Amino acid sequence: MEKIVIEGGHRLEGTVVVSGAKNAALPILVSALLSDGTNTFDNVPDLKDVRTIKTLLADLGAKVETSGSVVKVDATGLNNQEAPYDLVRTMRASVLVLGPLLARLGRARVSLPGGCAIGARPINLHLKGLEELGAVISLSEGYIEAEASSLKGAEIYFDIVTVTGTENLMMAAVFAEGLTTLRNAAREPEIVALAEVLNQMGAQITGAGTPVIEIRGVKTLKPTSFSIIPDRIETGTFMIAAGVTGGDIKIVGCDPNHFRAVINKLRQTGMTVEQEADGLRVVGAETISSADVKTLPYPGFPTDMQAQFMVLMCFAEGLSVISETIFENRFIHVSELQRMGADITVSGSAAVVKGGQRLTGAPVMATDLRASASLILAGLAAEGTTEVARIYHIDRGYESIEKKLSQLGGKLERVNA
Ligand code: EPU
Repeated sequence: MEKIVIEGGHRLEGTVVVSGAKNAALPILVSALLSDGTNTFDNVPDLKDVRTIKTLLADLGAKVETSGSVVKVDATGLNNQEAPYDLVRTMRASVLVLGPLLARLGRARVSLPGGCAIGARPINLHLKGLEELGAVISLSEGYIEAEASSLKGAEIYFDIVTVTGTENLMMAAVFAEGLTTLRNAAREPEIVALAEVLNQMGAQITGAGTPVIEIRGVKTLKPTSFSIIPDRIETGTFMIAAGVTGGDIKIVGCDPNHFRAVINKLRQTGMTVEQEADGLRVVGAETISSADVKTLPYPGFPTDMQAQFMVLMCFAEGLSVISETIFENRFIHVSELQRMGADITVSGSAAVVKGGQRLTGAPVMATDLRASASLILAGLAAEGTTEVARIYHIDRGYESIEKKLSQLGGKLERVNA
């Protein structure tokens, strides 16, 4: 098993280029199931989760070709409607094929994802929405079985804002007869990007990026080309890497409009964030001020940045309160950070971080994707050597993170344990 070994205490400087967004690439690759012919996607990051979705698409009968960051998907041969347990259990986002399969083939059989490290993460709202479009859904042997000879437009209200739920319903509704209205829809940039791709294919979607999305059903879609938007969470992770090392870095290729809440919060801690023509210059503060944070659906502060922000707060002056409102169990990184000397107390959905402690390197274990990013950040700023085990989690969502951080002057190495 591989580990990342980090020698702490090196200030980051230089330029880093951000990759395409995992959480945009996954639904967009899946959207190719909705048309015959070859769709061409560019700026697709080379990540474990992206490889899993490509395997799933090929399993369903699509032709998938990869050349560097370009992925071509041709679903003309779509002939299978089953997403097996083995794939869904390694990546919950596999459930995104449910909507498109139902829309295209009139049936889908998708393994029900279990709970995961960060929370129970049910998909009841995906299923309720599909039923409202006219699908008949049952559960058999751990699989969701969905059937619909045709789908009909409907008014769907999400009790909770759900990202992949909104994406699944948007894709299911493209061929539904009449008008579908999604209310309390997620507003993430990834939702806007998916709607843009679908509209380029010929769908009629308006309102993406607002809480009300309208989809007027069409008969068919045609293939298209699209460049995946930059990863705002990878960008935010690099910003915090500059913050914890007192660094001065330039992040090229990001879109600051996608993470205003993060930029604002980091400025509040004393960091300098300047927009330049081709990206952002980010400079760590000499003295980091503490700031409270509450995770919220977009455009609020992203839950996917909570663990990384907590590391910054370990080095701040004073106390900060970090409230997690999206997932019920997303503080698993805390006990690992405590092993490095962090002073953090968790009470329910809030963590109180007492900044100003010295962190020292230690062997630690990654438990989920963003938690592993936080441990790498802690390792960059800690005294001594940190060894992060179970890094397969980080490979799900960060492209060559140790190489990118090394280019900036960090001392990181991937080793076989
Ligand atoms: N929820 C329900 N019922 C549902 C759907 C969601 O109760 O049917 C709840 C969830 O349990 C959670 C909340 O609603 O408490 C929000 O979950 P959401 O459905 O928005 O999460 P997701 O779509 O499964 C995506 C990202 C996550 C990111 C969340 C929140 C993808 C592939 N995944 O997950 O990304 O944390 O939105 O922003 O887009 C990551 O990249 O590390 C990651 C976990």
